[in-house]
Amino acid sequence: MKLLWYSTILLICAEAVFGEKYEASWDSLDSRPLPEWFDNAKIGIFIHWGVFSVPSMGTEWFWTFWNDGGEVTEYLKNNFPPYFSYQEFAKDFTAEFFNATEWAELFANSGARYVVLTSKHHEGFTMWPSSYSYSWNSKDLGPHRDIVGELGEAVRAANLTYGLYHSLLEWYHPLYQSEKSNNFITTEFPEKKSMPELYELVNNYQPAIIWSDGAWESPDTYWNATGFIAWLYNESPVKDFVVTNDRWGQSITCKHGGYYTCNDRYLPDGLQTKKWENAMSLDRYSFGYRRNAKLADYLSSQELITTVVQTVAYGGNILINIGPAHDGTINLIFQERLLDLGSWLSVNGEAIYDSNPWTQAQKDNLTSNVYYTTKEKYYYAIFLEWPKDSQLNELSLGSVIDLFNEGTIVTLLGYNSSLTWTNSSESIQISLPDLSNVSTRNAWVLKIEAA
Ligand SMILES: *[C@@H]1O[C@H](CO)[C@@H](O)[C@H](O)[C@H]1NC(C)=O
Ligand SMILES: *[C@@H]1O[C@H](CO)[C@@H](O)[C@H](O)[C@H]1NC(C)=O
Ligand SMILES: *[C@@H]1O[C@H](CO)[C@@H](O)[C@H](O)[C@H]1NC(C)=O
Ligand SMILES: *[C@@H]1O[C@H](CO)[C@@H](O)[C@H](O)[C@H]1NC(C)=O
Ligand SMILES: *[C@@H]1O[C@H](CO)[C@@H](O)[C@H](O)[C@H]1NC(C)=O
Ligand SMILES: *[C@@H]1O[C@H](CO)[C@@H](O)[C@H](O)[C@H]1NC(C)=O
Ligand SMILES: *[C@@H]1O[C@H](CO)[C@@H](O)[C@H](O)[C@H]1NC(C)=O
Repeated sequence: MKLLWYSTILLICAEAVFGEKYEASWDSLDSRPLPEWFDNAKIGIFIHWGVFSVPSMGTEWFWTFWNDGGEVTEYLKNNFPPYFSYQEFAKDFTAEFFNATEWAELFANSGARYVVLTSKHHEGFTMWPSSYSYSWNSKDLGPHRDIVGELGEAVRAANLTYGLYHSLLEWYHPLYQSEKSNNFITTEFPEKKSMPELYELVNNYQPAIIWSDGAWESPDTYWNATGFIAWLYNESPVKDFVVTNDRWGQSITCKHGGYYTCNDRYLPDGLQTKKWENAMSLDRYSFGYRRNAKLADYLSSQELITTVVQTVAYGGNILINIGPAHDGTINLIFQERLLDLGSWLSVNGEAIYDSNPWTQAQKDNLTSNVYYTTKEKYYYAIFLEWPKDSQLNELSLGSVIDLFNEGTIVTLLGYNSSLTWTNSSESIQISLPDLSNVSTRNAWVLKIEAA
């Protein structure tokens, strides 16, 4: 009896000391509360950079288009000898203008709070000197630099949180290919290649996000995904603050994981029960840089801000992708879009960061293009168009009617004085300041303080 009692105490102590709480099952892993910083941060920058940034056309999937007879095949035929291999692009991944500090400053000035880099895309090239990627990494080839390490240091110095994307699969790795053709019965590729890389990344670089990808054709059991995530949550050096997504197996995405990304550019039209992230790209057609993109292929600043507002109003985070060039420069259009967002957020960020969706109404029920967030005792009505018809500069809102009583104070972020309003039985009319130059702004925020 006594012995049993002592061992129970010991077990409890062991649990308290080592914090081993989660089992290697989705039920257990899904029960972990999401570390708060992630929901509060709202905005991240996604960076797709790798050997695919050398041809920089097609998309980051360039290698898979090699023989498909489309624009990539044509480009190769016209510009390269027939025996040219994808691997030969790596020597031109020069990164001579890559300055991690400058990147991090740009991201900070965009208003983002976290950054996620492709540490390894489906091509298999690791952006750090991995012991598991012999001769196919950024230290042995191309820049001869530890990109993951350099960027991590700069991002943290800029007070941003650092996360890493990692592709489980590698399209053309012979072990992966043979196990795939054998229905993933054996697990040598995960055991010797992908999973050791992940442990190495976590132990060496302490990323706060593991943004997993490349599991759409394989079961999660092939990767021992739950085993890895249990280690990540229980024992890893990042266990207290790390978050991970849902791309851990073909039937896992959008069903299990720390938060959901579902499909690329995921933007559901309503509140979700689980935290989610909209991983989108400023170039609508590609995550990797395309030299031959057309101006209209890029989201305008207005479209970017609109997407940020919709995503946050529906409870998501937004991960805004840019594709740097092979030489380490970031296209000026990307920079401009990010800085436009940053200047909008410098006035209106109060309605975005640390906010919650308003459970009553994410969108106004009377006037279109008005979205809501809330924080403490405040409600924020974000309007994406200046009221059209009126010389009156009057905005009518329907959903907020129950928030208003005589003492309700309404202000426009960026302007000092409070606004006057009137009401009817169906709506509140808010008198906006007369701004003759409104076209210089993309979206405005009314802050409503219910009395
Ligand atoms: C990187 O950029 C920063 C900020 O502009 C600058 O201070 C630093 O000297 C640059 N580093 C290199 C190696 O050029
Ligand atoms: C760093 O960023 C966090 C938000 O992510 C903010 O609360 C904090 O004040 C910032 N610290 C500094 C020193 O700027
Ligand atoms: C799965 O991962 C866990 C945690 O690292 C490990 O203990 C276990 O041995 C792994 N299972 C297999 C089959 O590799
Ligand atoms: C809009 O929402 C408010 C508050 O819930 C409600 O009183 C009003 O009837 C709604 N109006 C419409 C047009 O649905
Ligand atoms: C709105 O108007 C009605 C009369 O139309 C009035 O009874 C009511 O108190 C008003 N509500 C507010 C919040 O002022
Ligand atoms: C708002 O008030 C602050 C401090 O009182 C002042 O510095 C700022 O210029 C004012 N802004 C506007 C747009 O009036
Ligand atoms: C915009 O309009 C306001 C109010 O009319 C004025 O004070 C301000 O100088 C204008 N700003 C620009 C950039 O024209």
